Amino acid sequence: MLLALESSCDETAAAICTAEGDILASSVASQIEIHRKFGGVVPEVASRNHILHVRPLVEQVLAEAQVKLGDIQAFAATSGPGLVSSLLIGTSMAKALAVAESKPFLAVNHMEGHLLSPFMAGNGPPRRSVALIVSGGHTMLIHMTGVGEYRLLGRTRDDAAGEAFDKIAKMIGLPYPGGPEIDKMAAKGRADAHSFPRSFMDGESLEFSFSGLKTAVLYELPKLDLKSESSLADVCASVQEAICEVLVEKLVLAAKRCREKLVTVSGGVSCNRGLRAKLTARCAKEGLTLLLARPDLSTDNAAMIAYAAAQRFQLGHTSPLEADVDPNLPL
Ligand code: KG4
Ligand code: ZN
Repeated sequence: MLLALESSCDETAAAICTAEGDILASSVASQIEIHRKFGGVVPEVASRNHILHVRPLVEQVLAEAQVKLGDIQAFAATSGPGLVSSLLIGTSMAKALAVAESKPFLAVNHMEGHLLSPFMAGNGPPRRSVALIVSGGHTMLIHMTGVGEYRLLGRTRDDAAGEAFDKIAKMIGLPYPGGPEIDKMAAKGRADAHSFPRSFMDGESLEFSFSGLKTAVLYELPKLDLKSESSLADVCASVQEAICEVLVEKLVLAAKRCREKLVTVSGGVSCNRGLRAKLTARCAKEGLTLLLARPDLSTDNAAMIAYAAAQRFQLGHTSPLEADVDPNLPL
């Protein structure tokens, strides 16, 4: 059994899984309400709250899994990418537990957690596929040929998809985090009400860019009546359509280019209902098998970190106690 901690941004999370990666307990202490009044994550506030939550969460998952600390074979934590001061809380706690119990420590890449999450909940084992990871900090296409064998195909040149959702939501007066708010409003709007730009849609590029979309919405703002629910819903639906169309088209293009039939989608933005519907329809049309991370495993959680740690542990990997955190850790 492995115990994993996640504290890369504003969620503190702990999970326990078997050596095979089956999740026995998982818990997330969200700080969304705390950061909402600031309109975004305040790093120092996040780390202070991680300190408050981390120990109770460890005790909670041990109780939930009915496991004693001495039964844990290895302790894992996210070591990057993320906010340095947040990463230090989870890694320090996992290292302290590893030292106290004389067990190995594993530093886990947060993006590997997202990447492998579609294979959890009975969809495993991790295998050849083309992955789209869409979170608040990253938008990446990856060709995966096995655990630890990842080739970056394309990424965003500016904002991540989740960041675009959040920034645009803020511009139109919706609360943080904006992705789920736009998702809700979009269901009531017309996706063709505004024609917003889609970048690098030349049928060649696997790079993304969302800053043009942000600027287009900014220029549209004076013409909008955001007090009218239908006009707000139309903007949300049109923004969501612009973001999702690019994500879906590039994933299909990447799969064709890599000659893979299995595609996976993970990260917070993969909760988006418009994106899920579009992906399902388009993949069926293209004869692609689609594995979508379960919504509770899409947003930040420690279950995916435990699962990734278990895959690595099975391969005999461990990390030194001196392992550093890295805010820009590449996959
Ligand atoms: O993966 P995640 O929880 O954290 C990072 O590693 O960044 O992703 C958070 C991002 C936020 O930008 C949030 O607005 C977005 O995921 N998100 C959504 C939805 N749920 C979360 N974006 C669009 N639609 C959603 N339903
Ligand atoms: Zn994440």
